[in-house]
Amino acid sequence: MPATCVIGLQWGDEAKGKLVDLLAPNYDVVVRYQGGANAGHTVVTGKEVYKLHHVPSGILSSQIQNVICPGVVIEPNMLIQELSGLESRGIHPRRNLMISERAHVVMPWHMIEDRAINKTVVSGESIGTTNRGIGPCYRDKVGRTHAIRMADLVSPQLSSRISEIVHAKRSLLAPLASPEDIAQLDAEKITSLCRGWAEALGSMICDTTYFLHDQLDEGKKLLMEGAQGSLLDIDHGTFPFVTSSNSSGVGVSSGSGIPPSSIDRMIGVAKAYSTRVGGGPFPTELLDETGNKIREIGREYGTTTGRPRRCGWFDAVAVRYTARLSGANYLSLMMLDVLSHFDELKVCVAYELDGQRIDRLPSQADTLRRCKPIYETLPGWNQDVTKVRSIEDFPSNARKYMDRISELVSIPLGVLSVGPDREQTIFLM
Ligand code: GDP
Ligand code: IMO
Ligand code: MG
Repeated sequence: MPATCVIGLQWGDEAKGKLVDLLAPNYDVVVRYQGGANAGHTVVTGKEVYKLHHVPSGILSSQIQNVICPGVVIEPNMLIQELSGLESRGIHPRRNLMISERAHVVMPWHMIEDRAINKTVVSGESIGTTNRGIGPCYRDKVGRTHAIRMADLVSPQLSSRISEIVHAKRSLLAPLASPEDIAQLDAEKITSLCRGWAEALGSMICDTTYFLHDQLDEGKKLLMEGAQGSLLDIDHGTFPFVTSSNSSGVGVSSGSGIPPSSIDRMIGVAKAYSTRVGGGPFPTELLDETGNKIREIGREYGTTTGRPRRCGWFDAVAVRYTARLSGANYLSLMMLDVLSHFDELKVCVAYELDGQRIDRLPSQADTLRRCKPIYETLPGWNQDVTKVRSIEDFPSNARKYMDRISELVSIPLGVLSVGPDREQTIFLM
């Protein structure tokens, strides 16, 4: 079993962090390979709650090596804060964390640009990014000329490189950003900031690609931790209301540098309902009391930004699509406890578009916005499931609900989650 991947099948926040933390002891290495500080992965261990943004969710176990790969974009200030937050709680992430020298750095101009253009209306709505500089950093990575990678932080050419980029960025951003923000773009200050980052992180920066190849050669097991969800994938999600990386299963290999042939298990993670943060079409969204009830019971507020998450019923059309896209072998169905308080539950089995029934996710956001969900109604179970520890102990209506979802998305159930804690988990795989 060389590499297992944990992939979100919805719009993020499917509880990937919980699952990765739980699976991690069966692996030698936990790997983050795309996204950046836009991610917020929660791990709950009894009374302790950890919110991880860059650091892989295997970090709580000192035996496991954790790796941040080339496909990740790193905001060093936030990473350093994250590391010291863990250190203040008795964890020593510097001992078992590696950072790729190829990973790109989210620079101060990226944060300014993200804030400046975040409100821009695109396709009738603003994307509502996390303001973590993600899109602008990936844009510069693809554009190449204005990119800074982790290795550059320790390069002798750093100062001249920063001067060149600052010069260009000041004129590029002048029409967009405030004079205060532009004044922040001072080459000398930014160079010394970079030197501080290099000092704080330098001992962890290395060639993670060779490390992972060597691990595979030695028969070690890798656990690949996806960030965001497949519907936010830059190429295959609900574009333009997506993030800037390949957050579905297709991104594992490009982001990490391990070959697709080394991946042998894909675990798709989904909530038993749907949520979305930020703009974009969301056919099953509930803008009523039921949506509010899901939000309050599920504590559906963003881990990274604190924004209320938009809530709705489970969308089997969307998850069937992402399960195929990511080649999911198992479904990890989370937050089942949140649905314990409803007399009936709805699952979207198809859409109605211009009077026609369709069962495929349209590629265009505008078309998806016009789709009306066709629901199947199932009876609720109205019974606390937070103490359930085996499949047999679920109320029969809960089993019917889970089985129906598994049937609709065509993947077997692998994990069931009935609360945030580690022990509130039932493994079937
Ligand atoms: P991630 O980004 O996919 O790792 O997910 P987040 O951490 O952003 O959001 C998931 C939230 O749900 C976190 O607050 C978890 O502690 C919590 N959580 C995880 N599994 C369950 C569950 O089965 N039930 C409930 N009620 N909460 C859960
Ligand atoms: P995890 O890993 C939920 C959303 C943002 C916005 C869009 C683009 O915790 O599941 P970005 O800052 O990436 O340019 O924002 O993507 N988004 C997420 N939503 N969970 C996440 O990560 C997200 N990361 C980005 O809200 O709509
Ligand atoms: Mg999250």
